[in-house]
Amino acid sequence: MKVLLIGSGGREHALGWKLTQSPKLTKLFVAPGNGGTAQVGENVALDVTDHEMVATFCAEQGIDLVIVGPEAPLVNGLADDLRAAGLVVFGPSARAAQLEGSKAFTKALCDRMNIPTAAYQRFANEDDALAHVRAKGAPIVVKADGLAAGKGVTVAETVAEAEHAIRECFAGAFGAAGAEVVIEECLVGEEASIFAICDGKSFVTLASAQDHKRVGDGDTGPNTGGMGAYSPAPAVSDALLGQIEREIIAPTFIGMAEAGMPFQGVLFAGLMLTKTGPKLIEHNVRFGDPECQVLMMRLRSDLLELLVAAASGDLAGVKPEWRDEAALTVVMAARGYPGSYDTGSVIGGLEALGDETLQVFHAGTKAEGGKVLASGGRVLSITALGATVAEAQARAYRAVDAIDWPEGFCRRDIGWRAVGRELAKP
Ligand code: AMP
Ligand code: GLY
Repeated sequence: MKVLLIGSGGREHALGWKLTQSPKLTKLFVAPGNGGTAQVGENVALDVTDHEMVATFCAEQGIDLVIVGPEAPLVNGLADDLRAAGLVVFGPSARAAQLEGSKAFTKALCDRMNIPTAAYQRFANEDDALAHVRAKGAPIVVKADGLAAGKGVTVAETVAEAEHAIRECFAGAFGAAGAEVVIEECLVGEEASIFAICDGKSFVTLASAQDHKRVGDGDTGPNTGGMGAYSPAPAVSDALLGQIEREIIAPTFIGMAEAGMPFQGVLFAGLMLTKTGPKLIEHNVRFGDPECQVLMMRLRSDLLELLVAAASGDLAGVKPEWRDEAALTVVMAARGYPGSYDTGSVIGGLEALGDETLQVFHAGTKAEGGKVLASGGRVLSITALGATVAEAQARAYRAVDAIDWPEGFCRRDIGWRAVGRELAKP
């Protein structure tokens, strides 16, 4: 099969790496790709906002499956336009992608389907929003309603912080995404992510994972796209997973089908495991980055078969298999991220790294003149398997230390909760 994978992050390098292990794959194109995807497929400089250009490329190349990695093209209807052109696409329609594109849409679905989530209110007016946080007090959570690249959320410890976030939103800090704000009750507990693939009717839940969103050690500092992740998430027992499927995942897919927008693709549910049970923080309509990297490392089954089954409505009875080992990934980012940072520095020491149990996935890199150059904020995602999370962590950091990139940094404590849990076990 000939596959076109859309995207350019660590997620797409990991998906591409896993796809190349399928005996069914004959050719992989990645658009636009990065320095890492160029090692597993052929990068093509398509403008993915030009849906006709993408469809024409697929027709010319005889593409059998298109996989859409990031959310923006999904929210913009790329999957719809490609399907209309007769292509088989893994990824939800624009209507179904509202699950990520609009927080208010998801909150309304939660209300309809009784999905546990934080209490919330939505405001289109700054004064009303300010009055609301003053009345409620802190801690309280302020969110831009639309897509803001993971940066539109403020978990405010004080009313002043919440007021500041509201003013920023309405002043246009997140563009159109901030035209409305959602103000939420602050949930307390441990976070976990659950991924489920759906073909519009049936779904299959994948392994659990946990991400580290804050930039600094000890989960401090501003939110980022994700500084590291591990799988499985030890906080998610089999019993808890069953509860999450019954109370959150299944009602989401049923509610979407009932609303005439069946979900086809991968749903990424961000959860808070509270004292009163799992609650939905947010839905995303794609694999997480860097959660995808640890999932791909642990997936034993053929990824291409799985995604084709989902894209063709044939998922019933499919059950992916996983390695028993844990996987952990450490993100190396350019100094300054998630604020401003420089690009163009040379990354050395990558040559010696990489086998089936340790992979350096590229996020923001480009290959130039035989060198790998940093070209983004999050740049590398060093991913290792291990018998335990502690072992995967030690292997990943050994590889990090072998990389020669003074302009980069990483957190030194990825996986700390899970490692602590392992140590506490008798
Ligand atoms: P989001 O972009 O919605 O995933 O939010 C980013 C991060 O903000 C989440 O991963 C949580 O750590 C935090 N967060 C979002 N909503 C809440 C909430 N209602 N209560 C507590 N923390 C939250
Ligand atoms: N790692 C979180 C995300 O992909 O949104």
